[in-house]
Amino acid sequence: MSENPSVRAVAEQFFASESIESAVLNNGRAVVTINSEENSSEVVEDLKKQLLKIPDVRKANVVFTSSRQNASDNHWQIRGVKKIIAVASGKGGVGKSTTAVNIALALSRLNYTVALFDADIYGPSVPTMLGYEDMELTSYDGKTFEPFEIQNIQTMSIGTLIGRDTPLIWRAPKACGALQQLLADVNWHNVDVMVIDMPPGTGDIQITLSQQVRLNGAVIVSTPQDIALIDAVKGVNMFKAVSVPILGIVENMSYHICKNCGHKEHIFGNNGAYDTAQKMDIDFLGGIPLELAIRFHADNGTPIVVDEPDSDSAKAYMAISQKIADKLF
Ligand SMILES: Nc1ncnc2c1ncn2[C@@H]1O[C@H](COP(=O)(O)OP(=O)(O)OP(=O)(O)O)[C@@H](O)[C@H]1O
Ligand SMILES: [Mg+2]
Repeated sequence: MSENPSVRAVAEQFFASESIESAVLNNGRAVVTINSEENSSEVVEDLKKQLLKIPDVRKANVVFTSSRQNASDNHWQIRGVKKIIAVASGKGGVGKSTTAVNIALALSRLNYTVALFDADIYGPSVPTMLGYEDMELTSYDGKTFEPFEIQNIQTMSIGTLIGRDTPLIWRAPKACGALQQLLADVNWHNVDVMVIDMPPGTGDIQITLSQQVRLNGAVIVSTPQDIALIDAVKGVNMFKAVSVPILGIVENMSYHICKNCGHKEHIFGNNGAYDTAQKMDIDFLGGIPLELAIRFHADNGTPIVVDEPDSDSAKAYMAISQKIADKLF
């Protein structure tokens, strides 16, 4: 049996490349061996279907080498937090943090008690977007921290530990250890829903974090370009693989409205995320326009949902958040 690039490429759409031990083709039979703690039958079936589309493949097998079939016992609950959702994207820079911050604020406006946790060890940006980057951490007992209370939400960022200008390349175990420690060391107060701004990508850190924390759902953010959508599909498959329900896809920078004539222009293409959602049988939660005010408010610590609540963009975030709330509660 020999490694087969086509088999591997298909497997990589479903699992992180590090976890694929082998992807071989022999006499028309594709066999993919995966070292992962968790597997969901849905993903395995999807993967098999895709493998069977490769010319020369007549049979497909997916084998898990991990001894533990289901790591759900391993999940831990965060004290003071009822529900947890992740905002994620396969690709970086698609507006994940902007979306996470505005969704968190929108959920708060819908009268839920909300926490926003910034888990982006590569580039924590929530402190800037909520204007708490220069605030001191408070601890009453010298062991645990109080969350920052900004705009009626509780928030904490991995950036408060590592500093804003020190991007860190951590190996997964260390990064996850630090995130887990910080999540546990904050005194979250009666939180209905915690929104986690995930690091970009679908690597070990994302997978491990999703396995450790009991996630009630994932929101995938993508821009309409094909290149971002390919990564969004990977993101969806990653969460499916660890049995996290997909709440849906948000299309960011969906369209631009000309300030002068009001014309709606689909700069990055039309309906991309909607079509992808349909194909993957997941919900399309809505589109957010590409708008200067969104960036301006995010950069200045006053997200558009609170600063211009009557704007169309704020309304779009509210509508998306209502859909999320309806799925969670
Ligand atoms: N809908 C939008 N309209 C205009 N600007 C936007 C919009 N969404 C995001 N931006 C801007 O695009 C940039 C990237 O957004 P953001 O930081 O939210 O992306 P990200 O996916 O979290 O990036 P990273 O992968 O680096 O964490 C920011 O400057 C942000 O203000
Ligand atoms: Mg970000």
